[in-house]
Amino acid sequence: MFLFFFIIIATVTFLLLEIFINRKIRLLFQLVQNYKISSTDFKFNMNEDILSKSEVEILKLAKRNSSELVKLKSEEKFRREFIGNLAHELKTPIFSIQGYILTLLEGGLEDPSINKRFLQRALKGAERMNKIIIDLDMISRFESDRINMEIENNNIVEICQDIFESLELKAKENKITLRFAENYSNEILVSCDKDKIGQVMQNLVINAIKYSDPDTELVVRFTDIERNILIEIEDNGPGIAEKHISRLFERFYRVDKSRARNEGGTGLGLSIVKHIIEAHGHTVQVRSTEGKGSNFFFTLTKI
Ligand SMILES: Nc1ncnc2c1ncn2[C@@H]1O[C@H](COP(=O)(O)OP(=O)(O)O)[C@@H](O)[C@H]1O
Ligand SMILES: [Mg+2]
Repeated sequence: MFLFFFIIIATVTFLLLEIFINRKIRLLFQLVQNYKISSTDFKFNMNEDILSKSEVEILKLAKRNSSELVKLKSEEKFRREFIGNLAHELKTPIFSIQGYILTLLEGGLEDPSINKRFLQRALKGAERMNKIIIDLDMISRFESDRINMEIENNNIVEICQDIFESLELKAKENKITLRFAENYSNEILVSCDKDKIGQVMQNLVINAIKYSDPDTELVVRFTDIERNILIEIEDNGPGIAEKHISRLFERFYRVDKSRARNEGGTGLGLSIVKHIIEAHGHTVQVRSTEGKGSNFFFTLTKI
């Protein structure tokens, strides 16, 4: 008799407990489903094995959250690095402007041997800051799709010729010869934004002039490849070591930091080049051998 009552009570307790636990798990399961973006297509079935399904859902959620966390962490690292780089880049010209102005205020203004020179140097610092801001503004407009592209049919030979002419003096100063690989007497039409591709050519040609040794040359070559024109800017300067290549197009990345800063670069030129070419739906790459030279190349759609 006692045993009979015990079995009845135990069975009832077990059933109540199961109902209780099931209800809690179902709530938990519902919570997980509601949390998921795909909750709209969720159908709840009373006959399903709620416990194992909950386990699967919770594991899925945990996996998704952990990959989101990794992404957020890397974005945060990228943001922190960027702010650090920016502060560092702006510090140099600000300190130099402050220094020259202070010296002038403390009596230098009356000294004709330095007053004009120091004012010119302070102006140079301000111009450098201005260039960093203009370049960054352009990059941020590209990154938020706020850039206006004026795509038209343009003669790439003429764009390059104009850049050669505008940089003739700078090239002469550094004893670099600028030339085309062959005599492109016919026009080569490509679909592009003239000013922006001019800026790409200017950045790549200036880099070759700045970083190459005197008495070397820069060669621009156009090659017809199916629906595209391949544009190569080749120098026989110092080249770039393999370990730098993958980071070369990053903002503020420089191989030889002190040399690059002395040359007045912002470290943003190649990043802008990459954005412009990608906005045309193409890519820019570099091949380089240390001690031999570099070849920056990209394609544009042929007309
Ligand atoms: N033609 C080249 N030859 C050797 N090094 C180059 C060349 N072009 C770019 N570099 C390296 O890549 C770095 C990044 O170039 P860029 O983004 O244009 O910045 P910067 O303002 O320093 O010129 C340069 O600082 C330089 O170290
Ligand atoms: Mg540059």
